[in-house]
Amino acid sequence: MSITENESKDILGRSDLNDIEGILSITNDDVDAIQHIVKDNADAIFTWDYSLTRPALRKLYEKAKVGQWNGSTDLDWSINVDEEKQVAMDLAAFASGLTPAHYASTTLSNWGDKEWTEFAIEQRRWSLSQFMHGEQGALICTAKIVETVPWYDAKLYASTQVVDEARHVEVFARYLDEKLGGSYQINAHLRMLLDDIVNDSRWDMTYLGMQIMVEGLALAAFGNMQQMTNEPLLKKLLRYVMSDEARHVAFGVLSLQEVYAHMSDKEIKERQEFAYEASVRMRDRFMSQEVWSRMGVNPRDVVPLVLNDPTREVFQQMLFAKIVPNCKKLGLLDRNDAWLRRRFEEMGVIQFENAEDTGEEYVKFELGETLADVQH
Ligand SMILES: [Fe+2]
Ligand SMILES: [Fe+2]
Repeated sequence: MSITENESKDILGRSDLNDIEGILSITNDDVDAIQHIVKDNADAIFTWDYSLTRPALRKLYEKAKVGQWNGSTDLDWSINVDEEKQVAMDLAAFASGLTPAHYASTTLSNWGDKEWTEFAIEQRRWSLSQFMHGEQGALICTAKIVETVPWYDAKLYASTQVVDEARHVEVFARYLDEKLGGSYQINAHLRMLLDDIVNDSRWDMTYLGMQIMVEGLALAAFGNMQQMTNEPLLKKLLRYVMSDEARHVAFGVLSLQEVYAHMSDKEIKERQEFAYEASVRMRDRFMSQEVWSRMGVNPRDVVPLVLNDPTREVFQQMLFAKIVPNCKKLGLLDRNDAWLRRRFEEMGVIQFENAEDTGEEYVKFELGETLADVQH
């Protein structure tokens, strides 16, 4: 059954998933602000039960302790990055993520190689900036999970994730500052999603929003950029970050499976709606409206076309390659008359439902004994 207009309005604030005006009306005007304050409504929970109750989480905790790396010394920051040359090299395979020919009879018809390369550079700077802001969201969310999750094993694991996320913010911020000449502000769709996650009082919603949705997408997006780029510092940095992210997603799957198995249909419906909302916010942010504005193009003139750009469509679907199978593993796809399955069908991403879920996949991403040679 398709979503009703009212249902869509309630969840997304607009009646049509692809309403361009609705998407573009969400903007970040607060570009010079240094702080952004969000009310965190959750209770901090102590537990006096220190016994080992969840071996899978404890195993993950042990893995995390030996999987630590140091962003200052394990990466070679002396590498000189010639961004223009780099993007030109990567362009054939990736870079802008768009098909120039698709815009031939639009305001971009006069764009040549120079403009597309410039766009690709800005797009990469923008993407890495959103990664950085998302990492700070993860830092805040996992600090929150340490407080709010009632299980001892999960508190231990979450504490290691706090350190991981600090390291991720650190390396993305340094790369942007030293190699790309600065960052973009947070995208408004991403900020809205992070606000919702931090604001929610239910501890499992932090997990669902961050570990399953935001980190599931990040793992896919990092993997994509990691494969496509030939820039050695970025390639290694992303590979290191991915070794941590895979554990983080596993943490979400292992924890929520247990919780969701015991929830009523009504409670599950709220989780399904939240997962859908998060999916749409993340999809909307990839319209890169700030990059178009920076290039002197009105986003309204191009975003409708971006939605149907064949290269971007493949990219957007790939972003959901981890999210959909993980939602399935949590039982979120098919409860309540397959409500979330129908939404993922409408978004064109349901084909990933049987892809490898990330409950165990983290082992594949481990850095190995010496942390050496992780270029591939
Ligand atoms: Fe992270
Ligand atoms: Fe993470």
